[in-house]
Amino acid sequence: MKNKLSNIKKAVKYLDKNQCVGIPTETVYGLAANAYSSIATAKIFKLKKRSKKNPLIVHYYDLKSLKKDCEINNLFLKLYKKYSPGPISYILKLKKNSLISKNVTNNSNTLAVRFPSHPLTRNLLKRLNYPLAAPSANISTKISPVSKQDVKDEFGKEIKLVLEGGQSKIGVESTIVSLINKPEVLRLGGIPKEQIKKYINSPLTYRKKSKVKTSGQGKTHYSPYIKLRMNIKKAKKNEAFILIKKRKKMHKNYFYLSKNNNLKEAAKNLYKTLRFIKKKKFTSIAVEKIPNIKFGEVINDRLKRASNFKWLI
Ligand code: TXA
Ligand code: MG
Repeated sequence: MKNKLSNIKKAVKYLDKNQCVGIPTETVYGLAANAYSSIATAKIFKLKKRSKKNPLIVHYYDLKSLKKDCEINNLFLKLYKKYSPGPISYILKLKKNSLISKNVTNNSNTLAVRFPSHPLTRNLLKRLNYPLAAPSANISTKISPVSKQDVKDEFGKEIKLVLEGGQSKIGVESTIVSLINKPEVLRLGGIPKEQIKKYINSPLTYRKKSKVKTSGQGKTHYSPYIKLRMNIKKAKKNEAFILIKKRKKMHKNYFYLSKNNNLKEAAKNLYKTLRFIKKKKFTSIAVEKIPNIKFGEVINDRLKRASNFKWLI
């Protein structure tokens, strides 16, 4: 515990000096920096090799701190009370006098905000007098990290500190809901859209092929950069085979996402499994059919994008 506290204090020091720090969240690990600082946020884009046009999510401790930067409405409050802190991000209108760096929003007047529930990161946020811009801590278009080691594998010595927060409990990114016009899900994620629907009186739309090129909706994303085929009954001999449920007889190339067909557990293990397969140097992956509901829909969404990359010669 003492060790954890001294690391949090170290993180505060780095962040105050406009440095980036790796932080654990319940969804995936983030690459965090002071959202009010142009110097600090510019470093995030550079480290991730991320397009400056792709805006960042800002992480807050509580409503009070959010109100300095965003206009809030009743629907937001309803969802906030139900699901935050937790794996959901909201797109809200930015206040004119907000201090958020223009780097974060790509100059737009909306902001993606989130209240992570991981206790270590909540402790950190409470100590800061600014919110944290934090995209997933991976090089752009690659697999999101779900452990401290994953973040180290992405950035090596380029970042000085990654807080140890164990394996991310949800294991896929937050669900993004835009509350700017009519409520709309922009990215599937840690809270299935059916659950959000329950608390909204008006319809909740989700367009698979969103016109927005942001919100993790790029065609190639979450990619292990290994050929990946979906809905496969039988894998080839040297192909890694990802299963939704553990088999009685497991072959060397079999990797299961859950023991008993549990989709939430499967989502939690998805990125970990993809990274493991990559480390094992497989050159192609087959995935068995995964039911397209709730967390299964999130898994299929990520796998579809992961499979969509051009081979670089
Ligand atoms: O679970 C998560 O959300 C993780 C953890 C670290 O909090 N963060 C995360 O951030 O996934 P990132 O940057 O990898 O994905 C955020 C997505 C981006 O694809 C971005 O395009 C979208 O959110 N986004 C950010 N601001 C937006 C805005 N104002 N309007 C629409 N989309 C926005
Ligand atoms: Mg990301």
